[in-house]
Amino acid sequence: MKKIITTMACLGFLVSVALADVKSDQKAFINHFKTIFPSVELADYTNGVYMIDQDSREQFEEILDGIPPYEEAVEDGGKEYLKFGLNKCVSLKDPVAARIQHPYFNEATQQVVTLETAIKNCYQNQTGNKLSYNKGKIARISAWISDQAAGQKINVKVESFGAKVAYEKGKIFFYAKRGQFNMSCADCHVYNAGKKARADILSPALGHTTHIPMYRVKWTGMGTLHRRYSSCLKNIRANPLKPQTEALRNMEFFHQAMSNGLKITADRYRK
Ligand code: HEC
Repeated sequence: MKKIITTMACLGFLVSVALADVKSDQKAFINHFKTIFPSVELADYTNGVYMIDQDSREQFEEILDGIPPYEEAVEDGGKEYLKFGLNKCVSLKDPVAARIQHPYFNEATQQVVTLETAIKNCYQNQTGNKLSYNKGKIARISAWISDQAAGQKINVKVESFGAKVAYEKGKIFFYAKRGQFNMSCADCHVYNAGKKARADILSPALGHTTHIPMYRVKWTGMGTLHRRYSSCLKNIRANPLKPQTEALRNMEFFHQAMSNGLKITADRYRK
């Protein structure tokens, strides 16, 4: 009996995977936000919470007009990119392409490859040293690479069967409730976007991946997307998971795909 149920569950999963379609998922995603924020232009979703919170938007714009607190770190990232020979790795030698082509699904390993995993592998090959995933060097280098692609559009491709399975798993992770608070990413960043959670206004998940890695006042520095994932997981008292584990890479694959067509930006300041 158990076997039959398992087989049926697997079949159900396969059928839904066969139907996985980024375009229609994204259309529904965008339409949902259009209903909540009818007057917000699609392009403004790159500004996260500042697209809805006028008071903090003024502060945000003042910071961008001056010398943003991450400017020097991003410049250092560019120097480090050359110093450690990251321009010699095929995956990173063209930084604009590197930002646009990640995350992607590697057919040989059947894994999602994010920009940070590519940076870490290249760094290790060139220097023989390890690199940690959340902040510091990797965030500076990743931010510099992303800056080179500013103005280009996010364009995550989910084509093969394996890619669709990874995308579907990432989507399930994003919508699944977890932690002591029993909440999902979608509870805050889809269904309640624009509402307040304690002192914060909740940003829409659409556009979340256009300005990564981000500078956060709370961190007094930059952090990668997966560092931010861990902060949110900790806030709902869930297992924060290690950065770049398969579950989080799959979620990033889904999360970035939902922002397909939005422009990558160098304005990476957040509270
Ligand atoms: C209890 C509500 C809550 C849940 C659940 C939650 N977050 Fe957040 N998240 C926040 C708050 C508050 C912020 C800071 C304000 C903002 O930008 O939304 C934030 C910020 C973010 C940001 C940065 C946004 C930006 O513009 O830079 C990302 C990315 C993010 N969350 C992703 C996630 C993901 C992925 C999950 C699920 C693993 C998740 N969050 C779950 C409350 C939540």
